[in-house]
Amino acid sequence: MTTRIIGTGSCPGDHKVSNGDLAEIVETSHEWIFTRTGIQNRHLSTELGTSGMAARAAELACEDAKIKPEDLDLILLATSTPEYCFPNGACQVQEKLGAVNAAAFDISAACSGFVFALQTAGSFLASGTFRNILVIGADDLSKITDWSDRGTCVLFGDGAGAVVVQAEERGCFHGIMKADGRKAKVLLCPARSEGNFLTGKVPQMGYISMDGQEVFKFAVKKVPECINQLLSEQKTAKEEIRYYILHQANKRILEAVAKRLDEPVEKFPMNIGEYGNTSAASIPILLDEMNRQGKLKRGDKLVLAGFGGGLTWGAILLEW
Ligand code: COA
Repeated sequence: MTTRIIGTGSCPGDHKVSNGDLAEIVETSHEWIFTRTGIQNRHLSTELGTSGMAARAAELACEDAKIKPEDLDLILLATSTPEYCFPNGACQVQEKLGAVNAAAFDISAACSGFVFALQTAGSFLASGTFRNILVIGADDLSKITDWSDRGTCVLFGDGAGAVVVQAEERGCFHGIMKADGRKAKVLLCPARSEGNFLTGKVPQMGYISMDGQEVFKFAVKKVPECINQLLSEQKTAKEEIRYYILHQANKRILEAVAKRLDEPVEKFPMNIGEYGNTSAASIPILLDEMNRQGKLKRGDKLVLAGFGGGLTWGAILLEW
């Protein structure tokens, strides 16, 4: 028994912000941002927030899959930016969609979240626990971004992407998930201060902080290692892979991964230029764009790979 994606949808933030717009609020330039990251625009959410964007992407994925929300058995939402501690964001999506028969919970693995959530869905399908699963990656990073820190604020955008998955006899679906909690500090965002009424600290959300060069080195080392391990375990040659759909963090990271894998960069589709780094949403947004543009054909072998805070990273080999 394997896992197949039967529908996709996406919803970027509603407000497009260019590099030039950011140069008006921090000391930066289009040239600096574009040459180091490939980013030209990002779309920030001013209205919907994480659960609203997630629900819209989910609605479109259900339409594409020709499945009614009532037929969903499980909603998995990968996010680092839920609106509440509880209820979880997946329950908010369940309510907005009217997916009254679905269990719902969130998965937190930063920019690897979608890859982790899709593998979790795959395990539930393989065990026969659920039949129709909605997997969403959604993040509203602009709400945890320090808009006076030019080292981070130019990188991120908001958005959501979703897929509906079902079990299938044919095809392939295999994954790897990894984590290294010792490297937490290179990319983190405190949830709230550790205070209570005894210590006198006021609970408040923190902002993203990052050691950019360490994150860069981590990604270009661990992602190719992980993909090579996956392909060798599954006895799959690189020539069989149609596309590598990677987390869209930085164009230079994607180019470096392609080089280390000794694969042409044309096999690494990118939309980072338009959306920036949308964390857990980047892979499903790109998948949805490619699906709607007719670029994915039944039977195409794809590798998805995510990496981010935790540190976490992982990859999936699947057949479209
Ligand atoms: N505009 C202009 N200058 C900037 C800037 C900005 N937006 N951000 C930083 N700078 C400056 C720095 O202050 C520094 O100046 P200094 O030399 O006078 O101190 C200089 O540019 C170089 O900074 P540095 O951090 O060394 O740049 P870099 O070449 O490493 O590029 C990143 C920075 C963030 C683009 C790069 O490290 C990166 O992409 N890392 C990966 C980040 C990532 O993908 N994170 C998410 C993973 S899920």
